[in-house]
Amino acid sequence: MDLMDRFHLELYRTERATGSDPLGVILERVISPTEAIINGRPTILAGTNNYLGLTCAPECIEAAVQALRLEGTGTTGSRIANGTYARHRDLEQELAGFFDRAHALVFSTGYQANLGTISTLVGHHDFVLIDRDCHASIYDACRLSLATTIRFAHNDPESLERRLAAISGRRGAKVVVVEGIYSILGDRAPLVEVVKVASSYGAMILVDEAHSFGVLGAHGRGLCEEQGVEENVDFIVGTFSKSVGTIGGFCVSNLEACDTFRITSRPFMFTASLPPPIVAAASAALKIIRSRPELRAKLWANVELVYNGLRAMAFIVGPDPSPIIAVSMPDLFSGLAFWRALLHEGVYVNLAVPPATPHGRTVLRCSVLAVHSTEQLLSVLGAFRRVRERLLDSNRGAGPDL
Ligand SMILES: Cc1ncc(COP(=O)(O)O)c(C=O)c1O
Repeated sequence: MDLMDRFHLELYRTERATGSDPLGVILERVISPTEAIINGRPTILAGTNNYLGLTCAPECIEAAVQALRLEGTGTTGSRIANGTYARHRDLEQELAGFFDRAHALVFSTGYQANLGTISTLVGHHDFVLIDRDCHASIYDACRLSLATTIRFAHNDPESLERRLAAISGRRGAKVVVVEGIYSILGDRAPLVEVVKVASSYGAMILVDEAHSFGVLGAHGRGLCEEQGVEENVDFIVGTFSKSVGTIGGFCVSNLEACDTFRITSRPFMFTASLPPPIVAAASAALKIIRSRPELRAKLWANVELVYNGLRAMAFIVGPDPSPIIAVSMPDLFSGLAFWRALLHEGVYVNLAVPPATPHGRTVLRCSVLAVHSTEQLLSVLGAFRRVRERLLDSNRGAGPDL
């Protein structure tokens, strides 16, 4: 079996040849968080993670420019060598304060935050119990940890309980890992029930709030805040690459273990630290998340408009309104045709296909931002309607239902 067969790359090869590769879209020029030039045409961006539009917030840009002028483009070192500047420490203190936790650690990406936290927390004789739909970084963290990894059914506390019961007599730490908002389907973990089950078996809990930080909760602290379980959750991991609008990751906890990761976690120690402008932008974004709840309110009003609009047109969407709205497609090829036609209409969404999606599903992953205008969102809805009509007309009698 060659590389192309092993990774099911036939589709990739075909799409590249036809010049429309859903995994290789180039934003030729970014005009704003909601618009870019793609294939030479102005296109609405409805497939990013820029939930609050902070990539272009004047305060974040100004803070980044100042830091750039003062301290340069990079640190050229890891956090344990020359890569910890006062601003890294200050950002950690701000995060600890925001989450009301004793310890906070800033990593260079969200991916590394999961890798560095999970792989250091558990080892050879321990167990990690992860929701089946967890992000690739959580799977990779489990592999790096050498712990026994046990998957439970998605959003199913009973499935988690059965697995915890099966290992209840075994020595070793047990850590349950779930996400605040799942990155492809946009649904939320049933945290109250997960916490109840995990606690009754003495397992620790880690919640990855990558897509829910800044988005859920009265103060934007995520699903743990929204569901009132912050005190029962041992570790919160997050990223700066979504609502914060830059790059980087973090872990916060009241457990001292979190602080010891500074000298035990390889993904924290053996990579370069975040450049000064990025740290400054993240810090400015955190201040906006704290001080401007109206951004979150606008985000959720926009979510309602798109979620209800798609449902009213009988598209199959995820169970909960969320800034991530996954529109189900009958199969890979109709998904691809729909995705391509939307792009032609000037709307960019993500085409998500197996193995990145659960149950072999093909979905168009749309993301709604606080800074989308109503006009843009109505254009997105209009494009969905027109594309479906066109595809149904051209497929009449032959193709699957859209
Ligand atoms: C749930 C989840 N965790 C972690 C990450 C990794 O974050 P980053 O892109 O900042 O490395 C992602 C990224 O998409 C994610 O969706």
